[in-house]
Amino acid sequence: MEVTKAVIPAAGFGTRFLPVTKAQPKEMMPVLDKPTIQYVVEEAVEAGIDDILIITGRGKQAIERHFDKSYELEEELEADGKLDRLDRVQEIADLADIHYVRQKEREGLGDAVLYARKHVGDEPFALLLGDTIIENDRGCTETLIKQAEEYESSVLSLERVPCEQVPSYGVADVDGSASADGSFPVTDFVEKPPQEEAPSNLAITGRYVLTPQIFELLAETEKGVGGELQLTDAIRQLDHVRGVELAGDRYDIGNIPSWLQANIEMAIRHDDGEMNEAVEALLKEQFV
Ligand code: UTP
Repeated sequence: MEVTKAVIPAAGFGTRFLPVTKAQPKEMMPVLDKPTIQYVVEEAVEAGIDDILIITGRGKQAIERHFDKSYELEEELEADGKLDRLDRVQEIADLADIHYVRQKEREGLGDAVLYARKHVGDEPFALLLGDTIIENDRGCTETLIKQAEEYESSVLSLERVPCEQVPSYGVADVDGSASADGSFPVTDFVEKPPQEEAPSNLAITGRYVLTPQIFELLAETEKGVGGELQLTDAIRQLDHVRGVELAGDRYDIGNIPSWLQANIEMAIRHDDGEMNEAVEALLKEQFV
């Protein structure tokens, strides 16, 4: 089994970030100098994928413009001799072959993934949520792909979250202890369970490798929690699912505290010394 395609759903409303998201996609929210979805595309590319399908919807045109060539801007940067900036702009359009399909109604993540069926066909694929940045030394999607290829199975990245937060997540029920490579079989999932009914505190975090069986299952799945077609409801019916608990930092950009945290922590870790110093000085001034 070989994973050569990635799907990035980016059609959601982003109501938690209103009014910012009234006229701009939340996936275009900047973290430092790049929009969130660029980090997500780069993660897929670093995992060796160059065929990416982005699920868009009404009001999401800025995403396509961002990954397109920008002739006027490039000419102007070249004429002004701003060659380092020109490189950065050109790199974006050359990242990968990016395709788009529009989700007609926002009927949930499961519905968005079903729109990828035609493009993906009968192959396994990586799925990366367009509003979630994962900073991980091993490369989250790269690790999942290796495991999926080794076990010929769907694989999800999982994270232990504080127990009071489990009602916000899809949660895994796991079987036995992890194998030497850190992955383990998952027997079931529950979408947004009440804390007392949660099978564990291992939450699904926005990175998956799924076998094409998921499309058949989604097509037969009824709408679930929130009146939306829930991806988790179809995943729990897959024949084989493994989970892998990955260390690293995850930022859900659709939520304001997490977006702020991403900007601060990634600025401090950034290899631009001037930026680190400026942010550290600002934080010391405010809090020390
Ligand atoms: P969320 O669960 O954060 O939903 O989506 P949302 O509607 O975007 O945001 P809120 O809850 O209203 O603030 C997770 C990912 O799935 C995509 C979103 O764009 C986001 O990247 N998504 C969600 C879709 O593509 N279509 C949908 O119908 C729902």
